Amino acid sequence: MTERAPNVAEQPPFIIAPSLLAADFARLGDEADAVAPEADWLHIDVMDNHYVPNLTIGLPVVQALRRTTTLPFDIHLMIEAPERWALGYAEAGAYNVTFHVEAAEDPVKLAAALRAAGTKVGLAIDRDTPVEPYLEIMPHFDTLLIMTIKAGFGGQAFLPEMLDKVRTARRHVDGGHLELRIEVDGGVDEDTIVDAAAAGADAFVAGTAVYHAGDPEAAIRNLRRTVAGTARRP
Ligand code: DX5
Ligand code: ZN
Repeated sequence: MTERAPNVAEQPPFIIAPSLLAADFARLGDEADAVAPEADWLHIDVMDNHYVPNLTIGLPVVQALRRTTTLPFDIHLMIEAPERWALGYAEAGAYNVTFHVEAAEDPVKLAAALRAAGTKVGLAIDRDTPVEPYLEIMPHFDTLLIMTIKAGFGGQAFLPEMLDKVRTARRHVDGGHLELRIEVDGGVDEDTIVDAAAAGADAFVAGTAVYHAGDPEAAIRNLRRTVAGTARRP
């Protein structure tokens, strides 16, 4: 039987999504449990050694994790030909499935298929990709993931110049009254989350800042407190 994430219709104004990429891969179930009391989503980075040079987690591991935790899964596909694999993650009970615009043949068609499969859908924009050409297709998506590093590896430094894309997207979303999460991924910590929130992001992926902290739960709490205290909408 395929298990579903719990009803997550009521989502908080700001999402903190710890990234399992920075966890201990020998203990993934325990590592999911370690953040479960505080995390809004569990961010899972799927890499295929083609779209990015790194190779990480695939569908069988996500299916196994789905059976061990009720956390909503935020699947970040860094893979070639996402149309081949994305639906499997929706069927595995993902809350949100995000694929890269650079890798997708027909992003709108894939988004529609994912929504039809019952999941939310995200479009990811890598470091060297502008956001403007894709603003018009945003109504087909629930999340826009703006990379604040070059996709592929955790532990990289946040690139503040990526925040121009966040500001552009935020203006577009607010101006068009779109329901769209603007998510940032890469180098997010207690300092950089302030700038990302000020630019208009409302979902924050954090790998190193959570899993390499002595107390991952407390790290999430601190990120949440920081963002709630400093965020402003342009
Ligand atoms: C990298 C991944 C990120 C990664 C972020 O391509 O998409 O989700 O886990 O890691 P940190 O937070 O360490 O930069
Ligand atoms: Zn990611």
